[in-house]
Amino acid sequence: MEQSTAASPWLLLLCLAVAATGGALQARAQPDVNGFISIDCGLAGKTTSYVDDTTKLLYTSDTDFIGNVGSTHNISAQYMVRPTHLSRRYHSVRSFPDGVRNCYTLRSLVPGGKYLLRASFMYGDYDGLGSLPIFDLHVGVNYWQTVNISEPDLEVTAEAVVFVPDEFVHVCLLNTGAGTPFISDLELRPLKKKFYPQANLTKGLVLEHRLNLAPPDTSIVRYPVDPHDRVWLPKSDAKMWSSISTTETVQSDGDVFEVPSMVMQTAVTPLNAAMNLEIIWSPNPQPQNQSLGYLIIMHFSELQLLPSNAERQFYISINDMQLPEPVSPHYLGTGFVSNGNARYRDNKYNISMYATANSTLPPVISAVEFFSVISATNIATDSQDVSAIMAIKANYEVQKNWMGDPCVPKTMVWERLTCSYTSDNSPRIISINLSSSGLNGDISSSFTNFKAVQYLDLSNNNLTGSIPGSLSQLTSLTILDLSGNHLNGSISPELLKRTQDGSLNLRHGNNPDICTDGNSCQPTKTKNKLAIYGVVLIAVIVVLVLVAVALFFFLRQRNPESMNNSVKSHKEMKNDGHRTEKDGYGNSPLGLETRQFTYIELERITNNFRRVLGKGGFGNVYEGSLEDGTQVAVKIRSKSSNQGDREFLTEVQILTLIHHKNLVSMIGYCKDGEHMALVYEFMSEGTLEEHISGKGNNAVCLPWRQRLRIAVESAQGLEYLHKGCNPPLVHRDVKATNILLNAKLEAKIADFGLSKAFHHNDDTHVSTNRIVGTPGYVDPDYQTTWRATSKSDVYSFGIVLLVLVTGKPPILRTPHTISIIEWVQQRLAQGNIEGVVDVRIHGDHDINSMWKAAVIALKCTTEALAERPTMTDVVAQLQECLNLEEELADGGSDSGIYNGTNSDDINWTDDAYSTNKSTNSSQRAALEKEHNFGRVPTMDTGPAVR
Ligand SMILES: *[C@@H]1O[C@H](CO)[C@@H](O)[C@H](O)[C@H]1NC(C)=O
Ligand SMILES: *[C@@H]1O[C@H](CO)[C@@H](O)[C@H](O)[C@H]1NC(C)=O
Ligand SMILES: *[C@@H]1O[C@H](CO)[C@@H](O)[C@H](O)[C@H]1NC(C)=O
Ligand SMILES: *[C@@H]1O[C@H](CO)[C@@H](O)[C@H](O)[C@H]1NC(C)=O
Ligand SMILES: *[C@@H]1O[C@H](CO)[C@@H](O)[C@H](O)[C@H]1NC(C)=O
Repeated sequence: MEQSTAASPWLLLLCLAVAATGGALQARAQPDVNGFISIDCGLAGKTTSYVDDTTKLLYTSDTDFIGNVGSTHNISAQYMVRPTHLSRRYHSVRSFPDGVRNCYTLRSLVPGGKYLLRASFMYGDYDGLGSLPIFDLHVGVNYWQTVNISEPDLEVTAEAVVFVPDEFVHVCLLNTGAGTPFISDLELRPLKKKFYPQANLTKGLVLEHRLNLAPPDTSIVRYPVDPHDRVWLPKSDAKMWSSISTTETVQSDGDVFEVPSMVMQTAVTPLNAAMNLEIIWSPNPQPQNQSLGYLIIMHFSELQLLPSNAERQFYISINDMQLPEPVSPHYLGTGFVSNGNARYRDNKYNISMYATANSTLPPVISAVEFFSVISATNIATDSQDVSAIMAIKANYEVQKNWMGDPCVPKTMVWERLTCSYTSDNSPRIISINLSSSGLNGDISSSFTNFKAVQYLDLSNNNLTGSIPGSLSQLTSLTILDLSGNHLNGSISPELLKRTQDGSLNLRHGNNPDICTDGNSCQPTKTKNKLAIYGVVLIAVIVVLVLVAVALFFFLRQRNPESMNNSVKSHKEMKNDGHRTEKDGYGNSPLGLETRQFTYIELERITNNFRRVLGKGGFGNVYEGSLEDGTQVAVKIRSKSSNQGDREFLTEVQILTLIHHKNLVSMIGYCKDGEHMALVYEFMSEGTLEEHISGKGNNAVCLPWRQRLRIAVESAQGLEYLHKGCNPPLVHRDVKATNILLNAKLEAKIADFGLSKAFHHNDDTHVSTNRIVGTPGYVDPDYQTTWRATSKSDVYSFGIVLLVLVTGKPPILRTPHTISIIEWVQQRLAQGNIEGVVDVRIHGDHDINSMWKAAVIALKCTTEALAERPTMTDVVAQLQECLNLEEELADGGSDSGIYNGTNSDDINWTDDAYSTNKSTNSSQRAALEKEHNFGRVPTMDTGPAVR
């Protein structure tokens, strides 16, 4: 006790120190409340951030995103002054005279999210050389576009809509030998997933033009009018078009683009009603013909309330190819037409819109976007390897060309690394040579995350501390060179074992303080001997104790009277007439006898309520000890508790009725005047939640096998409530804090205060006053119907299972609030089970059992009640997971890689995570139509599709 209290101030100090250094930097490099990142590159002087005049968004300097790479400059004074206002973002630049590739890293993104990236460039003769560069931009490991600076005062903008698979994205500038790359401004904006369905894991969209047709003035529409900060440039042409507009709001919430009303409110029509409406566009030629084709998205709305005898209907043709269906826009609704599969690769587009024979009004169009489609099929390095190497880079402040992706492209692999490439999987880092690299400090624990590394050379550095035994877990590692450092301590038994069985060549010469045979440290052999003596000694003591105990019980049986005398002081406390021996309650199937305690007794048992074990809605839970020494937990109803007598009595009733090894058992209760309390069996390891979150005293990480056992056991407890009780019970508050663990880490469900009996034929389980349960765990169906069924418990249990798999809370802030279900779905949809698994158990699990558990969890949390399994199904399926996991323990290898077919082992349809719940049927219809090459756009207005 003493030690742990003394230690905590130190921990606190450490945390503060971390927060003061890395933490502060990190905080500035986070997206803002909108999820936006706005960077003014090269922002110099004391200012590190400012609010932009037009958007009122905060722009920050770029050092947190790139470090001290490259050099910062102001553009030359002559370009600062211009006839029109030059945004402050263009005043400074960062340029990259050194290195082929230099990258910004934008972090804290939502993996699987869709993002708009925008980079801007204005040369402004920042270097005084007057030489205009051409260079390439990459997003992640894929080509984005070539930046051709053709005028010193031209503001060049590159914008892309991309799918981001990881929590970060790199934006890289590549020197292609045609001048020094530089950048003025870099912006990232999250988009809704339904936006721009043409952008996905394998395809990105590069913006060519985004035009707001016939706006009232020449101002640009962007944030805050467009909450996603798309930049809509004004476009009018009095020689080609006339314009119409409305002051009414155009509803666009429901469609897949959500074009702002202000953009939709104005539109162009032909100069005279008999003419076609023409838009002509020539894409920028892309060098090396990198574009996969061009995408044209046209946005329509009817802005005039048409009399019943009028009709506006028109055909669209692109380069003389007529789209099959005519368009007739809905009044104040939005719709779009696009060539969804982007099959055009022409260098000039002539879009012509003409009225159908039945139409009385000319064509109309409000906005149009032109994109070039780029390939995003290059696969980035394994994300665990990337995180590990980025941690190494940061930890040792490695000064090398370590920028962007470590292995991709092959021509730009980071210095001192070797990667392996297979056609379908992510490249892996297989060798790291940081010999003579001036590394200082301890051997970072991040080295143990390179699961594919075969060769690790850290020789001839200034490394100190001991050799982490966890390096032995790197099963692929064959050579570990630590020679020529200042390491100390002994070599851990696990590493020794690896060297002895020949699987690892460990070089540790020239480390004067390492303990091995033949120097000043205890030779390991002697240690072993000592250890053996120790074991023998302990064994002898154990035997002696056992003999003593046996003797004790033997005597006690023979002469109970005399023994009772010897424990007289205990007997005085004993409440006559009640059984207090451990076998009088609890697991005994006949243990219906429930002891009633007085308040005075509780005071004594809990030593005046000295130690609080936990807090609940009901009140505090205290540690106690019965007369015979049995430890108990005493839950006292606090006077301020809003949980009433009813819940208390419910719990007493239920607990006297039910007995199961996976339900916490009651020893007794107290109803003494206004005092109410429950006395339970003591669960020394606390709640599951403490173990998962690492809070309290239970900071040790539970291995996956243990977690699975806990899952199976708690599922059995719930199954008993649902199936084994008559009438069946719904727990209604299943969550990680209501699953308790005993000293053997066996799981038991606790807290039945909200439990209800239910019958399939009546509605007694419809609660009329309030929704009960805990945010993040409550079944959405129960929230809407107020009807709690056993399937609500199944849902909450699914969440518990996700918490066990991921080690994350049920509601994540990443920084957007997102449910654990969505978070897991996003990753699993990409087949990325490793991205889901709690990082603390990485490597130490069978991937198939993990995958299967995640699928079970998602099945439990499906919206449709009928599709959720019963707890009986869940117990059976989890038991199979546990079997898989135990096979692994019984000598199987953990190299099994999930191959996508194993989920077939599960009988349920595996669409639990592939259907995107947010896509409702009309949105889907819109998408389908849209992929059919320009069919009639859906004109659903917002409310209709919700
Ligand atoms: C750029 O100009 C700002 C003031 O406008 C100044 O503080 C800063 O030092 C300048 N940076 C360079 C690199 O000259
Ligand atoms: C860059 O732009 C200039 C002017 O538009 C053009 O003449 C030149 O061919 C372009 N260079 C490349 C490599 O695209
Ligand atoms: C991405 O979209 C294209 C069509 O635009 C489609 O052919 C491709 O299969 C999609 N890729 C993925 C991973 O969904
Ligand atoms: C035009 O009207 C006629 C008769 O009302 C109808 O049969 C035809 O389908 C309409 N054409 C279009 C393109 O809607
Ligand atoms: C190791 O550290 C010492 C001082 O701490 C320094 O003098 C020496 O140059 C360092 N050696 C290497 C190889 O970095």
